[in-house]
Amino acid sequence: MRSLGVTPTEHKSRVENVPDRLGLQANGETPEADEERVPPRASQNLRDEHVHVLRMLKVLEWMRPLLAAGDYPPSEDWSDIVNFLRVFVDRCHHGKEERLLFSALRQVADDQTRTLIEELIVDHVEGRRLVAALAYAAGIEPALPGSPGRERELDPAAADQAIVDYVALIRPHVVAEEERLFPLADRSLAPEIQQTLEEEYRLIEQEVIGTGAHDTFEQTVERLRARYARRRQP
Ligand SMILES: [Fe+2]
Ligand SMILES: [Fe+2]
Repeated sequence: MRSLGVTPTEHKSRVENVPDRLGLQANGETPEADEERVPPRASQNLRDEHVHVLRMLKVLEWMRPLLAAGDYPPSEDWSDIVNFLRVFVDRCHHGKEERLLFSALRQVADDQTRTLIEELIVDHVEGRRLVAALAYAAGIEPALPGSPGRERELDPAAADQAIVDYVALIRPHVVAEEERLFPLADRSLAPEIQQTLEEEYRLIEQEVIGTGAHDTFEQTVERLRARYARRRQP
């Protein structure tokens, strides 16, 4: 379990007790008033990306019964999935979180929130390892990082295990961010910082995946959803 198991009321209390650094809104106003007054939310861009992340997790889960039945997805689909998990999820989405939102929030957060941030970063690292394991098991990469390469084929049992482990890691990770960390960021970061974050999210997108590539990744998810939703076992 993560260490920040607190209620919204406890979050509110912590926010109001943090010194007003970097424009922290802790001036006695209610969080509800802050939320009405602060467009956009610091977390909105990341919440929007979570929709696509969760849809890809569903695709992976739909692939499991196919693997068990010997109806193996083609290597092109594995490559698209691994590319999405590495570039869109890890480099772009996790990059926005670590370089921007987590960094801004650390400056106004209490110790428990900082601990939660560190735990979320550990999840990002573990996710990277599991995607490498998935790529190896799917037979689309010749070796795990640091080991001698060799040509190999899909290992369905290992691919299934990598899917199980990745979904078990990332789904609660998304919930922890959306239910615990993001509301705190939305309430505690000053409007001008939230606006700056929104602009810098776009810069990271351009830097990491290039202009317009966000839409291409979303289309990849939708194509895979359409394919595997139809093929999944009853
Ligand atoms: Fe994250
Ligand atoms: Fe996230």
